[in-house]
Amino acid sequence: MAYYRAVGDVPPKRHTQHRDPEGNLYREELMGEEGFSSDSSLLYHRGVPSAIVASEVWELPDQTRTPNHPLKPRHLKLHDLETGTDAVTDRRLVLGNNDVRIGYVVTGADPSPYYRNAIGDECVYVESGSGAVETVFGLLSYRTGDYVVIPRATTHRWVPWERSRLYPIEANSHVAPPRRYLSRYGQLLEHAPYCERDLHGPDAPLLVDGEDVEVLVKHRTSAGVVGTRMTYATHPFDVVGWDGCLYPYTFNIDDYMPITGKIHQPPPVHQVFEGHNFVVCNFLPRKVDYHELAIPVPYYHSNVDSDEVMFYVGGDYEARKGSGIGLGSISLHPGGHAHGPQPSAIEASLGVDYFEESAVMVDTFAPLDLGEGGLAVEDPAYAWSWAGP
Ligand SMILES: [Fe+2]
Repeated sequence: MAYYRAVGDVPPKRHTQHRDPEGNLYREELMGEEGFSSDSSLLYHRGVPSAIVASEVWELPDQTRTPNHPLKPRHLKLHDLETGTDAVTDRRLVLGNNDVRIGYVVTGADPSPYYRNAIGDECVYVESGSGAVETVFGLLSYRTGDYVVIPRATTHRWVPWERSRLYPIEANSHVAPPRRYLSRYGQLLEHAPYCERDLHGPDAPLLVDGEDVEVLVKHRTSAGVVGTRMTYATHPFDVVGWDGCLYPYTFNIDDYMPITGKIHQPPPVHQVFEGHNFVVCNFLPRKVDYHELAIPVPYYHSNVDSDEVMFYVGGDYEARKGSGIGLGSISLHPGGHAHGPQPSAIEASLGVDYFEESAVMVDTFAPLDLGEGGLAVEDPAYAWSWAGP
């Protein structure tokens, strides 16, 4: 996120003395990506950001992954998935590989524990609901249709104001706008479907007093994804000011301006973010192809290099009509197998000039395994749905 922001009280010169009104020094922390060679922010703490008094194992929910073998397209019905109500600890694993994990949770209205993901950035799509994400950088409010992008190692907690359906895309890398939409210095370009005005970061410090505060840390060891519960001597939300280009932000799908064409446009025009070995796209309500002989639904396609995950979040997805897929469904169309519209959907789409559909897509460049949550809500009939009744 190469887009500078300054919040709260920062000194005029970095790495110089910065004191509170009583003359005590604030502790400066650099949060920087790729060592000291990429985007970063400088945070000014009242306490010592490294002061912990305890560290113990946090047992993560079941992270078991089952290979998609024998190879099949899959339909997973997330609205049938029962979850606990905590936005962090009750996520159930739906799909995952060594680059990204996709989960699902339906929250209650209680705050989550303090938490940070030390493995990679989180891009949490808010299928429905509203609330706040309190972070060490300040507060973000969230609402239906938001992507909440939280950089790796950002301490935060979820504070739902109502029941919220969350679709966490947990990367093992950073999540950023597509490179081709950025100038060589990082500004979003004119042909990008959104711009900096659409990204909403914290705008005030969030200060909380406290001692012996627990923070759950998700991280990696040679044994895979694990958790640790660290106890901080003082509250981690003690940042009086920060500045830089690394911070959490939200982006709402209503602010994405779809790119359309005279004939069918391929999925990359719908891309919104990218991480290492995966992309995030969104298919949104839009005018469709206007050639007099256009076929508005997609052609059949073989994802030679990727697994494709569609999460159907709004409207009525034209290409999937007749397949059993509905709101809250996920389809997994794996590499090595062609997919496309259900045959009856092609004729039905001719002459249509507007699609009222919303779907969030994750394409991964390595095969996805099924998580225990995905397996629990699979519709076993989907794989045969193109062959007819
Ligand atoms: Fe596809």
